[in-house]
Amino acid sequence: MQYIPPNNLRGANLAPLLAARGLDPDWIQLHDFDPHSPQNVARYTYAEAAGLVPFHYRAALTSLPELRAWIDTLVGTAKQEQDERNSPIASVIHGPSLLLLGQTGVGKTHEAYGAMRELAVTGVYAQWQVTTAADLYAALRPRHGIDSEAEFRHYRDARLLLVDDLGAERKPTEFTEEVNFRLINYRYERHLPTLFTSNADAGTLRDRLGDRVTSRLREMCQRVAIKGNDRRRTAA
Ligand SMILES: Nc1ncnc2c1ncn2[C@@H]1O[C@H](COP(=O)(O)OP(=O)(O)OP(=O)(O)O)[C@@H](O)[C@H]1O
Ligand SMILES: [Mg+2]
Repeated sequence: MQYIPPNNLRGANLAPLLAARGLDPDWIQLHDFDPHSPQNVARYTYAEAAGLVPFHYRAALTSLPELRAWIDTLVGTAKQEQDERNSPIASVIHGPSLLLLGQTGVGKTHEAYGAMRELAVTGVYAQWQVTTAADLYAALRPRHGIDSEAEFRHYRDARLLLVDDLGAERKPTEFTEEVNFRLINYRYERHLPTLFTSNADAGTLRDRLGDRVTSRLREMCQRVAIKGNDRRRTAA
């Protein structure tokens, strides 16, 4: 990672995120001109992540202890690999995956973006790609002028990947099954951390994704169920 001038992160509503990590609100503003300092890595990583977070979720915070524990595991693994490689910064490369389950509107996407924002301020470099499953299939459909294999590699090789709304298709097709299998098998074999959300229950998910994908997901992911009502109704 190159040294970049410090970003002005004022107004980014970072205090609650930093507090969640037990850090002082001014911690991230420290400019010590060390490109590898945790603060510089956090500013860079946060600015990158903020560009991926949709406006609606810009201030999202995670409230789930399981997501916090997942972030801690990713940070711990990144630091261990940094030591082993004698690398100047810690980067998330390997780690477990997580599957957030819950009905419509319980807050899955909110929690996912909250986790992405919180991981960004840990001082560990975390580079995400984000997509919904439906957008992924649309992006990969073979069409004129598009190299869908190159497009596929973009998601397949992502350091961290958020796949929102997995298994939302009532009628899986051969094409969506193949994309699911190739993506999940690749990331499963390489321990590439992936955050999935789905509003299908466990049985429906198996019907929609098939046994081979579900079996891999079971081994690679911790499953976290979010209970509750549709928050959009309450908000309305
Ligand atoms: N912990 C929270 N605090 C405040 N608002 C929240 C929280 N969780 C969710 N919300 C809000 O509730 C609404 C629904 O949340 P979200 O979009 O994450 O639901 P979802 O489970 O992803 O739904 P769907 O299955 O339809 O995608 C959003 O407006 C979101 O901002
Ligand atoms: Mg959602």
